Amino acid sequence: MVAVSALLMSALISPDANAKPAYALTAGEGAAESLGYASEVPTFSWKLPESVKRQTAFQIEVRQENKTLWDSGWINSDQSTFVRFGGAPLTSRQHVQWRVRFRDENGHEQAWSPFAQLETGLLSAKDWKAQWIRPSQTAEAAEPVGYLRRQFTADKEISRARLYVTARGIFEMEINGQRVGSDHFANGFTVYDKRLDTLTYDVTKLLKRGENSVQGKLGTGWYAGRYPFGTKQIGPYGKDTGLLVQLEITYADGSSQTVASDGQWEGTYVGPIVSSSLYDGEIYDARRQSKDWAPVTATHELGEARLTPKPFAPVRETQTVTPVKISVTQSGGYIFDLGQNLVGWARVKIPVEANQSVTLRFAEMLKDDGTLYTENYRSAKSTDVYTAATSGEIVWEPRFTFHGFRYVELSGLPKNAKPQNDWVTGIVLHSDLPTIGSFDSSHAKLNQLQSNIVWGWRGNSLDIPTDCPQRDERAGWTGDAEVFCATALYNTDSHAFWKSWLGSLRDDQDADGGIPDFVPSAKHKGRAHSPGWMDAATIIPWDVYVRTGDVEVLAENFSMMEKLVGWYRGQTVDGLLPKIKGYGDWLQPYSKPAPGEHDWAGDKRGDTPPPLLGLAFYGRSAQILADSARVLGRNDDAKKYADEAATVRANFTRQYFDANGKMQNAPETQTGYVLAIAFNLIPAELKAKAGENLARLVAEAGGHLRTGFLGTPFLTAALDETGHADVAAQLLFQDSYPSWFYPIDQGATTMWERWNSYTRDRGFGDVAMNSFNHYAYGAIGQWMYERVAGLTPDAAQPGYKHFIVRPLIVSQLEHARAELDTPYGKASSAWKKQNGKVAIDVLVPPNTTATFESPDGAPAKILEPGPHHFEVATK
Ligand code: BGC
Repeated sequence: MVAVSALLMSALISPDANAKPAYALTAGEGAAESLGYASEVPTFSWKLPESVKRQTAFQIEVRQENKTLWDSGWINSDQSTFVRFGGAPLTSRQHVQWRVRFRDENGHEQAWSPFAQLETGLLSAKDWKAQWIRPSQTAEAAEPVGYLRRQFTADKEISRARLYVTARGIFEMEINGQRVGSDHFANGFTVYDKRLDTLTYDVTKLLKRGENSVQGKLGTGWYAGRYPFGTKQIGPYGKDTGLLVQLEITYADGSSQTVASDGQWEGTYVGPIVSSSLYDGEIYDARRQSKDWAPVTATHELGEARLTPKPFAPVRETQTVTPVKISVTQSGGYIFDLGQNLVGWARVKIPVEANQSVTLRFAEMLKDDGTLYTENYRSAKSTDVYTAATSGEIVWEPRFTFHGFRYVELSGLPKNAKPQNDWVTGIVLHSDLPTIGSFDSSHAKLNQLQSNIVWGWRGNSLDIPTDCPQRDERAGWTGDAEVFCATALYNTDSHAFWKSWLGSLRDDQDADGGIPDFVPSAKHKGRAHSPGWMDAATIIPWDVYVRTGDVEVLAENFSMMEKLVGWYRGQTVDGLLPKIKGYGDWLQPYSKPAPGEHDWAGDKRGDTPPPLLGLAFYGRSAQILADSARVLGRNDDAKKYADEAATVRANFTRQYFDANGKMQNAPETQTGYVLAIAFNLIPAELKAKAGENLARLVAEAGGHLRTGFLGTPFLTAALDETGHADVAAQLLFQDSYPSWFYPIDQGATTMWERWNSYTRDRGFGDVAMNSFNHYAYGAIGQWMYERVAGLTPDAAQPGYKHFIVRPLIVSQLEHARAELDTPYGKASSAWKKQNGKVAIDVLVPPNTTATFESPDGAPAKILEPGPHHFEVATK
């Protein structure tokens, strides 16, 4: 009924019954926020309805109230993504509406879309009248929480109010006792001495005429907390936290008032949150009500860091998980099993006794005796403690910490309390990136693998891409991000997320062009200069460009890429890289380093020598640089770097391959072959032979991989490309160690750091490096989408303007399907074996084309937008 009347209504309102307006209007990159928009020159993207084949022209109109700021006029173009605003650059706080209309393939003009809204944040430091404030007392705890407040009067009717805020540390704001927004860790983790992200909130409804109060809580976070790993260091970016707030109120009569952080605020470190630490957890004492309020320490000096609106969605609670099992511990505590390894925290709803403390401990795994396995957290205590003021039931969750866990142990509860399922709820926290892809198949373990990949990414996309979310690390390890980025882009709209982190890479790049091992580097001095890690600076911009079509990501990062390639060049001796060290092919199973230069760090670095890895990644990065120069129209650079890449490839081939496509001057490894093939380092005529050798090594390993972080992501693709798709499939469906299915058979619900982080017969792996939530090996997800289901982007027409559908019909599956919300709308590829044939269904979004490469080897077909059905013979 509702639907029918809504339809009637719109028919009445709209004069054109066949109106097919554009939809999904977005400014900037996908998950960028439209309130607190970060750029003065927005770009505009929209999607066409599925019934449309092609856009032949568009018109964009941007308005501020009734004033037109920009009318593009009709532009004959099929461009429907990232169209740059042509009006005068926007200024801070500007609220604009924009809409678009288009002509379809027949030249028919379609109706205007509804207006989309956009409001800029404070675009430069000049907009800030506020001062940095913090409580003036000395805190007792190592990682204290500061409380800050200010009362003020708003004596007229309020028409609009915005709260602009950031912190040195992490904040939570309240107005009149109500929380502002629903974000966590919102200013996030950037290279704080270079850039601090600011947030914009619409707080019109939280204010009232008369007396108002603003309050802030300020945690240490990554800025002033214990970070990074392996040290007792507190406060890599500074010892003192700080809050910067500016509340701007516009009254109905047009006048305005600003309440900014300054010496008129009061602060204290005495309050219920005694301390809160990202690694160690939160200590909460409900008896400790705030007191000792005193004027704050306020600083006029804003500091060196750029103050710019956060360019992507903050961390939010995205789902909750309820326990599947409760068990009792020997000491009378309870362990709640959430059935899923996740990242966030536990919200508890429990009975408490006055003056008693309830302790919450977390773990990813249980030991054989049923107790928590926390050894792999290393020095991270990951423990929350709640002390009750009065007896009764409380609902509580922490604020400024997070944990990586599946199990929650509660101890210290009233003796006769009976455990209830709703005592513990798992709160899932991560950057709020929309899901855009799905993969599924007829194989339960393959589907579990997809689920583990997705959960691995959820847990490790908490504001920055991290290696792991639980031990005393949680760092933006560049290598892990480099291998996983493409898979992340299949599963979530993480375009703006990656662009932001690349900004941190630029901020953190060394003067000599090197990239720190993890970013933000938290001023960590150590540099491994590792091939495959540093190349996040080239590979990630390229991955983002290919999958979104956003040229800006190449422009922004071009000089960073140039400097990195220059770094490699500076290391060459006669065209080789003999001095290169680094993390090698990290965690390659059954590594047997020969005595010599590349075994200097034990068996974790694999058998492929760093000088070979260095040359491989130098070649790859130089080629990406050349390709980027070409896309950006920098023709001289394109030529220069293409020549450099060709020289590196020639040197690589001469040094490491003989005329039979067999490796020389280095131990023969799967990774050596994989990189030579996947990065096109060897000439076409050697590739097939190298593929034979790779397949032979896999066979010698009993159908198993022998690759680490750098080789594994491209292993199946390299085999497939050289005609060994069956071997690739054998590896994907392998279930003995080491393989993707092996951890699943041991109970994995996320990706593990090692294939044998835990085994049912031998227990836990080396505790020093044993994360149960490490996304790197999840990089296989890319091949599952691209090949098993068959949705492959085309770098020549990026952002899926054109893509290739090339499903691989494997003997292990009955059906497989992938769906992706591309910048042009939904694309899908699904295949199913039936009646001795394979039925293939493909959906091509409007304004794109696809090339169908039939699994039966028939000539390729160009597919126009819309659904397509094929039936082909199985080979
Ligand atoms: C991290 C890795 C990272 C590595 C560097 C580890 O501690 O967890 O995933 O890439 O160090 O080798």
